[in-house]
Amino acid sequence: MARMLKEMVGLVTGGASGLGRATVDRLVRNGVKTVMFDLPSSGGAEESAKIHKENCVFCPGDVTSPEDVQKALDICQEKWGKLNVLVNCAGIGIAKKTFSSARNQVHSLDDFDQVLNVNVCGTFNVIRLAARIMANGEMGPDFERGVIINTASVAAFEGQIGQAAYSASKGAIVGMTLPIARDLSSCGIRVMTIAPGLFETPLLGKLPAKVKEELGKQSPFPNRLGNPDEYAHLVQTIIENQMLNGEVIRLDAAIRMQP
Ligand SMILES: NC(=O)c1ccc[n+]([C@@H]2O[C@H](COP(=O)([O-])OP(=O)(O)OC[C@H]3O[C@@H](n4cnc5c(N)ncnc54)[C@H](O)[C@@H]3O)[C@@H](O)[C@H]2O)c1
Repeated sequence: MARMLKEMVGLVTGGASGLGRATVDRLVRNGVKTVMFDLPSSGGAEESAKIHKENCVFCPGDVTSPEDVQKALDICQEKWGKLNVLVNCAGIGIAKKTFSSARNQVHSLDDFDQVLNVNVCGTFNVIRLAARIMANGEMGPDFERGVIINTASVAAFEGQIGQAAYSASKGAIVGMTLPIARDLSSCGIRVMTIAPGLFETPLLGKLPAKVKEELGKQSPFPNRLGNPDEYAHLVQTIIENQMLNGEVIRLDAAIRMQP
């Protein structure tokens, strides 16, 4: 049975930019009242106002902070009385070799820690607190209370040179998808993860057009970078199709990253 997005309430982390921004936009267009959660420096207030003045609210905060995340969940509850959808898009990356012989430099442990902290602990922090709100919410006619969607990367499977920290973090998100889906199954909450290939977000937007074109050509078909709304479209599909649970979906135009 296809689930109706209208009347749902959502929270999107990293919602002020790229894949998260496109997700907020699509959810709100489909009737989901949404809290856009992102760092205070993200420009989220302006972005949320562009999307919708009432059905989109910006909450500044850091995914690694329990207090900040609770603040966003409180907005969902106080303003709209529930939470049905969580999309975790907040994430960071670095490019550093484990050991660089050219520079005689080892990978800093602080850098490794930071990527793991934001991408893994941050994602888990939001999931655990959101799960409590969802689990205490009303059950839908299909016995469902909520859907949680995380963002990994194809780097979880074929990480490139310099991606030890990033790949470890995305691999952890892949690894925790099934156990969390199992943990939350008795509450009527589904958990899925999307592993994107190369998408045209502000991250890549700063690159010269020629470099972007070359990156896009690495995808067998279609031979281009992904559009952030194509990611958001999969988020919508996951919400609507109740049989999707405990799985990781690659959204990558068949790309297999080279070393
Ligand atoms: N763009 C791609 O090609 C691609 C490919 C694979 C995976 N991803 C993943 O998709 C997600 C979104 O990436 P994007 O390309 O849209 O990047 P982006 O940089 O455009 O957006 C990421 C957002 O996360 C926010 N953020 C970072 N740290 C945060 C924190 N501690 N608390 C709250 N918000 C925080 C940033 O402010 C930013 O708005 C990331 O997890 C990224 O690893 C992106």
